[in-house]
Amino acid sequence: MYKALRPWLFRLPPEIAHEAALRALRAYGAVRPAPATATGGPLAVQALGLPFTNPLGLAAGFDKNGRALRGLAALGFGFLEVGTVTPRAQPGNPRPRLFRLAEQRALINRLGFNNAGMESLAARLRAERPALPIGVNIGKNRDTPLDRAVDDYRLGFAALAPYADYLTVNLSSPNTPGLRALQEPEAARLLLGALHEDQAALRRRSGRYVPIAVKIAPDFTQETLAALLAVLAEGLCDAVIATNTTVSRPTLGHGPAAREPGGLSGAPLTTLSREIISRVFKALPDIPIIGVGGINNAEDAWQHLLAGASLLQLYTGLIYEGPGLVPAILAGLVERVHAGGQDNLGEALSAARRNLSSGSRPNTVKF
Ligand SMILES: Cc1cc2nc3c(=O)[nH]c(=O)nc-3n(C[C@H](O)[C@H](O)[C@H](O)COP(=O)(O)O)c2cc1C
Repeated sequence: MYKALRPWLFRLPPEIAHEAALRALRAYGAVRPAPATATGGPLAVQALGLPFTNPLGLAAGFDKNGRALRGLAALGFGFLEVGTVTPRAQPGNPRPRLFRLAEQRALINRLGFNNAGMESLAARLRAERPALPIGVNIGKNRDTPLDRAVDDYRLGFAALAPYADYLTVNLSSPNTPGLRALQEPEAARLLLGALHEDQAALRRRSGRYVPIAVKIAPDFTQETLAALLAVLAEGLCDAVIATNTTVSRPTLGHGPAAREPGGLSGAPLTTLSREIISRVFKALPDIPIIGVGGINNAEDAWQHLLAGASLLQLYTGLIYEGPGLVPAILAGLVERVHAGGQDNLGEALSAARRNLSSGSRPNTVKF
């Protein structure tokens, strides 16, 4: 069905096609009954203190303002991440700012956090919230000076923690000038330390613990990644999301879109993301990793899990493969679990990781 539709969708400018897809998903969500939320199947995962029916989530940026959550939940995802939202609504960068590289199964975007603002998302989540874990990804407004960035993230935490199962601190969009500087050790410690205090205060006040995930870039040197991971090892976050889009340009051919500035996602990112996942896993074996970047099929998903991810997300794969990609990946993961003679994903991964490297370390996530 999507194969037949895709040529038509791809004749539209990418942002118009995306808007059409969101509207269709919203309409679908209104008529489609909520999906089963039973836990305990072969792909069930318990992580971040939350039960996931399966490990495959929707990555941030697809539904920034939470407009189509029911429809997206009905596609079979195990969780959804909305945002990035900023304290105040902002238009983002001038168009065009989203480009398809169809041959490479990739996108380049420089949207720049176009979003309706945190209060609008809070109102949406208050009004309609499907029964699966929802992560909320927060960022800073473009015109907030970098040395006041902490204020924006604290505002985001205060407004959205009441409606989020976990919050993601986005330090890694390449399209907000200076944002990635927040990944430098001192800045990261300051920001995450402040949010850690807000998290503790919320727990004291309401008894609710809202886990904090940190979303990192794929564009590090060995040293800069090690320095950030050393800060994260200080207990300032509950999960790492690896990775956001890349500003590098691994072999993209010579089409005009390949030269566009912005963040590259999709197939050319797969290996780079996996490399980062594996380095985070080695450095922080006790912190759950949400693996994202270039997942286009079940094998990509499986390899991200083997590299150390406990949960997964995708975005660009959905644009090229359509909504059928979600059940296809889930079926492929179930096959791999059973092929290894195991009953559930956790056991299958432990066995497969053991086989891969006798030095592989335990992860605190329970499946
Ligand atoms: C059009 C577009 C918009 C995105 N917007 C956001 C965003 O607002 N916040 C964020 O953390 N990541 C954003 N991302 C990054 C994705 O969440 C994901 O990390 C990245 O695309 C790699 O995954 P993929 O290869 O499956 O797309 C965006 C990606 C795309 C393609």
